[in-house]
Amino acid sequence: MLSEILWIFTALLVAVYVYFRRQYRFWKELGVPFVTPTFPLGNVTDSVAVGTHFSYVMRNLYERTKHEKYIGIYFFQSPCLLINCPEIAKTILVRDFNYFMDRGVFYNEKLDPLSANLFFMEGQKWRNLRAKISPTFTSGKLKILFHTVTAVSEELLNYISESLEVSSSGKYLEIKDLMARFTTDVIGCTAFGINCDSLHNPQNEFRKMGNRLVNITKSRAVALFLGMINRTLAQKLGLRFTLKNDADFFMNVIRQTISQREQDKIKRNDFMDLMIQLKNKGHLEDTESTDEGTEALTFEEIAAQCWVFYFAGFETSSTTITIALHQLSVHEDVQEKAREEVRRILEKHDGKLTYEAVMEMEYLSQIVNETLRLFPPVGTIHRISNQDYRLPNGAIMPKGTFIVIPSLAYQYDEDVFPNAHHFDPERFTDNARAGRHNFSFIPFGEGPRICVGMRFGQMVVKIALAQILSRYHFTLSERTSTELEINSTAFLHTPKNDIWLNLTPIH
Ligand code: HEM
Repeated sequence: MLSEILWIFTALLVAVYVYFRRQYRFWKELGVPFVTPTFPLGNVTDSVAVGTHFSYVMRNLYERTKHEKYIGIYFFQSPCLLINCPEIAKTILVRDFNYFMDRGVFYNEKLDPLSANLFFMEGQKWRNLRAKISPTFTSGKLKILFHTVTAVSEELLNYISESLEVSSSGKYLEIKDLMARFTTDVIGCTAFGINCDSLHNPQNEFRKMGNRLVNITKSRAVALFLGMINRTLAQKLGLRFTLKNDADFFMNVIRQTISQREQDKIKRNDFMDLMIQLKNKGHLEDTESTDEGTEALTFEEIAAQCWVFYFAGFETSSTTITIALHQLSVHEDVQEKAREEVRRILEKHDGKLTYEAVMEMEYLSQIVNETLRLFPPVGTIHRISNQDYRLPNGAIMPKGTFIVIPSLAYQYDEDVFPNAHHFDPERFTDNARAGRHNFSFIPFGEGPRICVGMRFGQMVVKIALAQILSRYHFTLSERTSTELEINSTAFLHTPKNDIWLNLTPIH
């Protein structure tokens, strides 16, 4: 019996090996330069087996091969084209977008309704949804949300002041978790109209859910990665992106919020109001309906969009604030220059942090950009071809081929950003930007599928930084290193350890 099992196992292994070997001829046959893969993980062995963050695996491949405009690699057995040249990235993301509209990430609308959101959806369904969702992020709408965000930022300042008074560690504060709580509250208030108060109550259900989203187990990370590269298998295995309990909790909260608002005719000028308009009318009240956006959204579709605002919005923004504060603590001259700008502009606006004041803070924007260059929360941009595509070498790349644009690698390229590891906001003056390819810095992606929450995210980050800069001077505590270590198992490119700052109030 044992020997039979052994035979079957060996035969299976040989069959898989032969299949993979055949797959590994893909790029050679297309005449595309490639990096030799190793069975069975292809070119992502360092990510799966060694635990190097995926963005760095792509960066290493880029550094080895950047003399080529693009190269073929393999995720396990699946072929993927790594784009080394920003101009070709532009072609993929913008000019030939119709071929590369989708990200190619698996989702399962029936089993996991929250996964049917703007981030995962594909084709015409995505197009229709994007046409409906985009108007929720116009500057007019952001101006309205601005007040909600500043109110939460006032809470943050209160919390910092209270904590510094009672803290047993003197003037020290751990900011990584604090900023995650702040942005959880921001998204809670703006997207769901719920005051989560994670600042004072870190154990609330939203915050715990956020922690579960961020700190996934290694086995779940591998399962999700496998799901990404083999969608048929993921569907067959019934893989879910959201955990069942989290999805049930979240759907319930959204259901209750919507029914309460509709029953009591409550209007709060937040994303949820706009979502309710999309549910009832199919378009926003102050926008014309278009052919792409006439159908009303179902409750499940609304919940899925609220969910994507949460998972795409809270940690990306909190990481950016945290790292900017860390870098400003290390570079006190930059901190002082930023504080002077904040003071000057606040004075001009009668001491009030208005939307216009925040938009005027140019140097602060440069700091945010330089933070995103060094530590982009999303270090690679993904697409999949939805039809056969002619490559610049004339070969026809078949439908269903993965594309990776290694944005983090571009942003560390010494030829484009000399002394690339050094934090220097001067890289983002208009002059400096004009001297390089505009796709060599794409922390929000690019083209029609660019981050829909980009301006909202930038606004939240700038509000938090302006508030803290105007009230506190901060330095790094001895517990925190000037060099940040990255959490290799996290999906996002985020710091691994706690970050402690020493804050002194400015009188
Ligand atoms: C600093 C903050 C943020 C960063 C760095 C960031 C980055 C990104 C990136 C790189 C993408 C992929 C773009 C592409 O494939 O071309 C993306 C997509 C997306 N982001 Fe953000 N994001 C941030 C904040 C937010 C916020 C605050 C929200 C929502 C409130 C949000 C919602 C989304 C959504 C829905 C998508 C998918 C868009 C689509 O496929 O149509 N993001 N983001």
